[in-house]
Amino acid sequence: MPKHTIVTMPGDGIGSQVLPEAIRVLDAVGFEADYIHADIGWECWRNEANALPERTIDLLRKHKVGLFGAITSKPKKEAEAELAPALKGKGFQYFSPIVSMRQIFNLDICMRPCLSFPGNPLNFIRKTPSGGFEEPIVDVVVFRQNTEGLYAGVEWTNPPGKVREALSLHPKFKPFDKVPGEDLAISVRIITRSAARRICEAGFRHAAKFGYKSVTICEKPNVLRETSGMMEEIAKEVQKQYPGVALWSTNIDAQTMWLTKNPEDYGVIVASNLFGDVISDAFAGLVGGLGFAASGNIGEEVAVFEPTHGSAPKYAELDPPIVNPIAMVLSAAMMLDHLGETGKAELLRKSIAAVVAEGKVRTYDMMRLPGGAKAIAHGAATTTEMTDAILDKLGVAVEKAYAGSTRS
Ligand code: NAI
Ligand code: MG
Repeated sequence: MPKHTIVTMPGDGIGSQVLPEAIRVLDAVGFEADYIHADIGWECWRNEANALPERTIDLLRKHKVGLFGAITSKPKKEAEAELAPALKGKGFQYFSPIVSMRQIFNLDICMRPCLSFPGNPLNFIRKTPSGGFEEPIVDVVVFRQNTEGLYAGVEWTNPPGKVREALSLHPKFKPFDKVPGEDLAISVRIITRSAARRICEAGFRHAAKFGYKSVTICEKPNVLRETSGMMEEIAKEVQKQYPGVALWSTNIDAQTMWLTKNPEDYGVIVASNLFGDVISDAFAGLVGGLGFAASGNIGEEVAVFEPTHGSAPKYAELDPPIVNPIAMVLSAAMMLDHLGETGKAELLRKSIAAVVAEGKVRTYDMMRLPGGAKAIAHGAATTTEMTDAILDKLGVAVEKAYAGSTRS
């Protein structure tokens, strides 16, 4: 009897190339699950005017755990133009299915590990004073608040009169009071105490559990006194329950400068939505970029794991596929952690580490080659070959892990 049911949403482009690779690896590590396919993405938009159909929402609500590839999204006019003829001109509006998923299920905690695998040619290196080079090991986990902040979606161009009236109550609005409505765009940055507490608690819990010495709250409280101020205040409160974990506070701008100076000093980083988006991409760039960047969107009931990359349409039609499946496999490993299968997750990460360290099998991104069919002729591994290499190492790792035990 399979233990788990996983809703698989390959989506568009390379999403549907990498997701089956993750399932091959999950099978090989002995993860027992039923996989239920769910539709999501551009084809759903074109044919149903909804990129996240109700049936997919129902499956997620029922089974609680999703593994997601990537979707394609396009600007408003293009989206409208690609709708099936019968759906055109009916006022349908495209919404990103990922943002919708986060909102519908309140997937408020976005977790993005940024771990460097020794031997990855894409790892960040730094000059030493003596003229040599060093490669710091980066092991950072960014906890980004996923539903509020500047991405809450409360914004206007030409705000309604009542909004302008309310804004006029604030002395700092005076310089903008006379700006004509159509020349005025406003996005509201919303932070609630409860969501701030949840993201801070998630960060500290993770730090304590996995032995990180610090949690850094990465905000801008000296300028954004109310919103960043609240994030920092709550981080301080939460830290009191975790005396073994230090709380550091950095400003987002300074943090990006320190990124290349001393990235090895940071452990867990907690940030509001936009700042977390920025700083997680920045750290991902130090450890291999999109081919390595995994993430989890975690709510109280439902969780969805996905590589950070999109559908990379320019590579979607290549046969054989060339993109790196590691980000997807690492996302599957995060899913295993979430389900309490940490031993299996660790085996996946060890197998990836072994492939990267050996350096024999590298996808085009790891070789810094231009993407495209020619990459293979230049020695790049295909998507499938990379997965095969991981499976190879996994075979060895699984044997070692179970050596001496009787395994059925
Ligand atoms: P993208 O992440 O799809 O690709 C950008 C570039 O990164 C690619 O052209 C490729 O050079 C590289 N890349 C991405 N994944 C890779 C992998 N696994 N291995 C090796 N190289 C990889 O971002 P882009 O081009 O800005 O967006 C393409 C589409 O994806 C758009 O429609 C966009 O809206 C959507 N998108 C979807 C996301 C999601 O589903 N979570 C996230 C980002 C973009
Ligand atoms: Mg992003």
